Amino acid sequence: MADIRVEHLHKEFGTGVEKVVALDDVNLDVSGHVFVSVVGPSGCGKSTLLNVLTGIENPTRGKVEITHEGRDAFPGYVFQSPRLLPWRSVMDNLIFVHKDRSKETRERCRRYLGMVGLEDRGSKYPGELSGGMQQRVGIARAFSTEPDVLFMDEPFSHLDAITARSLRRELHDMWKATKKTVLFVTHDVGEAVELSNRIVVFAKGGTIKDDITVDLPFPRDPADQDVAIAKADVLRKFEELDLIAT
Ligand SMILES: Nc1ncnc2c1ncn2[C@@H]1O[C@H](COP(=O)(O)OP(=O)(O)O)[C@@H](O)[C@H]1O
Ligand SMILES: [Mg+2]
Repeated sequence: MADIRVEHLHKEFGTGVEKVVALDDVNLDVSGHVFVSVVGPSGCGKSTLLNVLTGIENPTRGKVEITHEGRDAFPGYVFQSPRLLPWRSVMDNLIFVHKDRSKETRERCRRYLGMVGLEDRGSKYPGELSGGMQQRVGIARAFSTEPDVLFMDEPFSHLDAITARSLRRELHDMWKATKKTVLFVTHDVGEAVELSNRIVVFAKGGTIKDDITVDLPFPRDPADQDVAIAKADVLRKFEELDLIAT
């Protein structure tokens, strides 16, 4: 678990007429075992936010603090595509990100591979797996480092609807079992409602427009009436904020 504190965060790319404001005075507090989704149209700064939070990009101004019990928190990152090394086996793709290659590390990697249903694919190469399986490997790899906080950038957006749905369930189970703090970026309102305690609504120009608590029990089936109503409510807010036409 981690505490994320973002204060007056501002990020620009380029200068002069080329200048793009990707994040504009973003303030955000996230604490404990929560699943927070950041939702907004394409180009509104979601990936930039994650990149600044994980230190891939430096902010132009503002402050980011991610802590766990008083020390810097250890982050994990799952990207839109799994970014596996094609010349390494599935198991080696997991083990490779760990400093120590001990028996315990191997065991842990095997355990997380099991949690995404790939215990028997460790010796396969990424090219021998479907896109959904490859993304599962990426998720298992991120969890195997046992981060305090997991940042996920549209991890299911390249997958077909059925695969995405089963991976959402797996992700939810892992979130619950491991008590991680998750910050999940998506442009899919239904996905956000299914997974999150809280939805942060982003708009073009990199500003936060709304911060919605989703107070429904888990697991959430999108076919359930309560979940469908919550999704409709969030979509209505999007319409009110004029965020739909993208
Ligand atoms: N490295 C970069 N250089 C220049 N502009 C960038 C860079 N990364 C993102 N941007 C711009 O910042 C804005 C936000 O992008 P991004 O964070 O990728 O949005 P999202 O993830 O919500 O689709 C966009 O206008 C994008 O073109
Ligand atoms: Mg993005």
